[in-house]
Amino acid sequence: MKFTTPATTNPIDRLQVVGRPTDRIDGPFKTTGTATYAYEQHKAAPNAAYGWVVGAAIAKGRITKIDTAAARAAPGVIAVVTHENAGKLGKGDKNTARLLAGPDVQHYHQAVAVVVAGTFEQARAAASLVRVDYAPRNGVYDLEAAMNAAGPAGKQKDRSTTRVGDFDRAFATAPVRLDAVYKTPDQTHAMMEPHASLAVWEGEKLTLYTSNQMIHWGVQDMAKTLGIPEHNVRLVSPYIGGGFGGKLFLRSEALMAALGAKAAGRPVKVTLQRALMMNNTTHRPATIQHIRIGATREGRITAIAHESWSGDLPGGQPETAVNQTRLFYAGANRFTQMRLAVLDLAEGNAMRAPGEAPGLMALEIAMDELAEKLHMDPVTLRIVNDTTVDPEKPGRKFSTRRFVDTLRIGAERFGWNKRNPKPGQVRDGRWLVGYGMAGAFRNNINTKSGARVRLERDGTVTVETDMTDIGTGSYTIIGQTAAEMLGVPLSRVTVRLGDSAYPVSAGSGGQWGGNSATAGVYAACVKLRENVAKKLGLDPAHADFSGGMVRAGGKALPLAQASHDADVTGEDTMDYGDLAKKYQQSTFGAHFVEVAVDAATAEVRVRRMLAVCAAGRILNPKSARSQVIGAMTMGVGAALMEDLVVDKRVGFFVNHDLAGYEVPVHADIPHQDVIFLDETDPMSSPMKAKGVGELGICGVAAAVANAIYNATGVRVRDYPVTLDKLLPGMPAYA
Ligand code: MOS
Repeated sequence: MKFTTPATTNPIDRLQVVGRPTDRIDGPFKTTGTATYAYEQHKAAPNAAYGWVVGAAIAKGRITKIDTAAARAAPGVIAVVTHENAGKLGKGDKNTARLLAGPDVQHYHQAVAVVVAGTFEQARAAASLVRVDYAPRNGVYDLEAAMNAAGPAGKQKDRSTTRVGDFDRAFATAPVRLDAVYKTPDQTHAMMEPHASLAVWEGEKLTLYTSNQMIHWGVQDMAKTLGIPEHNVRLVSPYIGGGFGGKLFLRSEALMAALGAKAAGRPVKVTLQRALMMNNTTHRPATIQHIRIGATREGRITAIAHESWSGDLPGGQPETAVNQTRLFYAGANRFTQMRLAVLDLAEGNAMRAPGEAPGLMALEIAMDELAEKLHMDPVTLRIVNDTTVDPEKPGRKFSTRRFVDTLRIGAERFGWNKRNPKPGQVRDGRWLVGYGMAGAFRNNINTKSGARVRLERDGTVTVETDMTDIGTGSYTIIGQTAAEMLGVPLSRVTVRLGDSAYPVSAGSGGQWGGNSATAGVYAACVKLRENVAKKLGLDPAHADFSGGMVRAGGKALPLAQASHDADVTGEDTMDYGDLAKKYQQSTFGAHFVEVAVDAATAEVRVRRMLAVCAAGRILNPKSARSQVIGAMTMGVGAALMEDLVVDKRVGFFVNHDLAGYEVPVHADIPHQDVIFLDETDPMSSPMKAKGVGELGICGVAAAVANAIYNATGVRVRDYPVTLDKLLPGMPAYA
């Protein structure tokens, strides 16, 4: 089915199942320990051996020698695979660095060997006996130094620069100007389930039970890496313990499991030890962002410039931190630019809301600073600079844009009018109390997605698609979609996900999964409805499916009658025309935060948070709320804690475990609230939905930083906002 014109009224609009707060149907499996994660697929391979990955001990250079004799002689060892015996390996399209090093090493902890043994402990012990000699080379690890060395002519990616009007002149003549530099650190996904894969070979065919957000990408890249046809690779990933972008791509544990299993002649499972994950896999790259905004005294932006630097391995991509600035606020004269330094750190890549998340960490502090210069309320400043069109291409409208509503409703519900605009004024015992807010923006992307839906002989419905559920609630919204389309209760629908044997879906990434995958199920259900109606002798064009009945032309027949003799199937893929080119599709929101800062120690406590989101139809308000609350919590981590610290001499992330890399827990945030605006977007898909799981983090860190400023009068432009950065400016020390 091709989605080319705005969605009209369709069965989803009945909202008998879709749009209702619904418990996740996979919940009981997770809470009873019966959901089979990759490392727990005992039934698939009861005789699986265990692999342990050895990571490179240098960031750049060459392996001169690998001595595996002692490891091979260790108890229980079945095989040791290194570049010397792995055979010829290709590289997946989505991987920048190779998944197995040798003889060159491209980054620290790049896999150099996998040791396979009968037990986990044997593999781990033997791995410590692998001796690797290196010839290290000097690498570049310091983004700021690389930026300074590059000068104005540094490397640029295509289409990394946009210009509208004459920024320089407009900025120079603006009555009010903001000019500041903001820094965001490297961050790691720190999902609960580490990367894990179980590889089973049957002849030339590989089945990989894994933890991966994008099944089809994984199949393609595994086939490319091993040099085998795609039809000989099957990926199975029914449950995923978090991804946040870290599991978008094939990672080394999957390749090591496949190579280890081949060498061992039996199934092998590999999980990346937590301490290897941060340097072996991808991370959100650090940025240095220069923002300049010029405005009239009434607060209208006349000039806005956003320049961002980030780093990546050779062949990598910039962090697209200027994305939102191209679309968020009005202003006639504009300039954005992304620059890329080549660094020899592990691969930089997507982490929850890549681009916008770090971009808004900078832009939304800048807006707070501008509001203060204007003596203007920061909510009002954003309302004054709203736009209904793409500010870089004024002919192009937003499909929907209710940013102003999120601001107004949020301000009212939060009690924003109680904020004292003068910083450092509100005391509550030993605490300095402040309010902060920020705008939220994240693009909405629609991605081709397929599904197969079957009316079983017992009258139940089965949905199959390779879509994944990374904890987001995909199972449930897909089940809700099929139930609504076929007029049956959710309890009559079985959802099967995460298997490359099923039709190719959008996968889970870039907050496109919810709308795109359900739209694919919608398309398959349209097909199934046609097939059912035909079989019942009813006119497919006018058939109504509800309450377990199919009605058309004055006749009413039970749905189950269509499959009494044989099941009926519908399969289709939702494909998109150019609506997304004609209309800019984005999601909007506003975040409000109250913090308390200890007047003596500068310890920061978040007291309450509110997010207001305008993100199209909310398919399941319960799981969407969980998504946004999780994202808000992650935003607090970005504001106050998360920082992968680079050892700039040796070239690695020092705090590469969950003891050194801190993230917030429930107890850190006592009160969080989420409001969804009642909105449908007919341009997005027949579901009229959009993504929301990434919108929830966008702007949060800046709202926290702005609240800290309001509490203390200390402006920190270098994340995370830690005590050492606050203390020197605290009133007690001034
Ligand atoms: Mo998302 S960072 O594309 O999983």
